[in-house]
Amino acid sequence: NPFHIAVLAGDGIGREVMPEGLRAVRAAAERFGIALEFHTFDWAHCDYYAAHGQMMPDDWKQQLTGMDAIYFGAVGWPATVADHVSLWGSLLKFRREFDQYINLRPVRLFEGVPCPLAGKQPGDIDYLVVRENTEGEYTALGGVMFEGTEREIVIQESVHSRHGAERLLKYAFELARSRPRKHLSLATKSNGIAISMPWWDRQAEAMAARHPDVAWDKHHIDILTARFVLQPERFDVVAATNLFGDILSDLGPATTGTIGLAPSANLNPERRFPSLFEPVHGSAPDICGQGIANPIAMVWSGALMLDFLTRGQGAGRAAHDAILAAIETVLREGPRTADLGGAASTTEIGQAIARRIAQA
Ligand code: NAI
Ligand code: MG
Repeated sequence: NPFHIAVLAGDGIGREVMPEGLRAVRAAAERFGIALEFHTFDWAHCDYYAAHGQMMPDDWKQQLTGMDAIYFGAVGWPATVADHVSLWGSLLKFRREFDQYINLRPVRLFEGVPCPLAGKQPGDIDYLVVRENTEGEYTALGGVMFEGTEREIVIQESVHSRHGAERLLKYAFELARSRPRKHLSLATKSNGIAISMPWWDRQAEAMAARHPDVAWDKHHIDILTARFVLQPERFDVVAATNLFGDILSDLGPATTGTIGLAPSANLNPERRFPSLFEPVHGSAPDICGQGIANPIAMVWSGALMLDFLTRGQGAGRAAHDAILAAIETVLREGPRTADLGGAASTTEIGQAIARRIAQA
């Protein structure tokens, strides 16, 4: 039985990098004998919004149910649709309605990519940020009282559920256990946020007791951001609430060169709903139409997708590893896109990677 993959390219350079992502995924699937069936949907982009007044059809959820994964480009075209409208009308609906409670972002410095941090070598930066993706600090609970008077007050609640914390920590500890270093760091702020963050520390202690083979520590978010910059070699798996994880998962990729490399996975690990794989970057209107976008973030996201589909085993893991090896080679030897100081086109990078995969 083939895996069913929904393809949603979105806006801007999403449409330019998607064909290269598909080229790599197809090459790896063919090379390792993984049956895939692609289903392209022409919505979740701003042209659809212009025609229909909404980002997606009313039955979007039914159309995507039965898909094993969603391969997503990038959404947003601020010249015509406000960013909160395009994001809340598409990507954020997928994350919430499909209960994609893990946002996984690998952060890795590659050979051949200039590092913005002084003195860091490939190998010094190689960790995974695991962000809670459905609750926490991102809510619409609260309100403004006495508005416009000198008594004006604003309250914004956070929501951390036992269920939500446990499943996030369980995933993160098991991920740490599967890696050679077997180390987990928790982002916290239990010195300042005096109720929810000590509670998170206790949830992590309880989960750590169930994973005695995983070493762990916790860092207040303020010093943690400094350590991401000064001592990235300390980190292996980093677990964080929604807000802290959002910050860390932009900071991490920023330390490894270009945003054009950073992939992400939005996972429903139980597979009750499709998971979604997308580059970290957006639609990049400033470079769109020139054919110079770096497709590697899209390609790497495809590798994460193949790995997830086969539960990190067998052909999917081999396909993932072959794609990563091809990315490594191309970053080391070229060709390179403009964000890495080269002059190659999006297509040339995609073709070079696909060629390497076929030879793997
Ligand atoms: P952006 O990520 O689109 O661009 C930021 C900068 O990075 C730009 O200078 C761009 O040229 C460069 N860049 C991004 N991807 C690149 C690539 N693959 N190769 C080379 N250079 C690349 O973020 P920005 O400009 O803040 O947002 C533009 C639009 O994208 C907005 O509508 C925003 O809402 C949307 N967006 C969507 C996301 C998503 O779909 N997940 C994530 C971030 C932004
Ligand atoms: Mg963000």
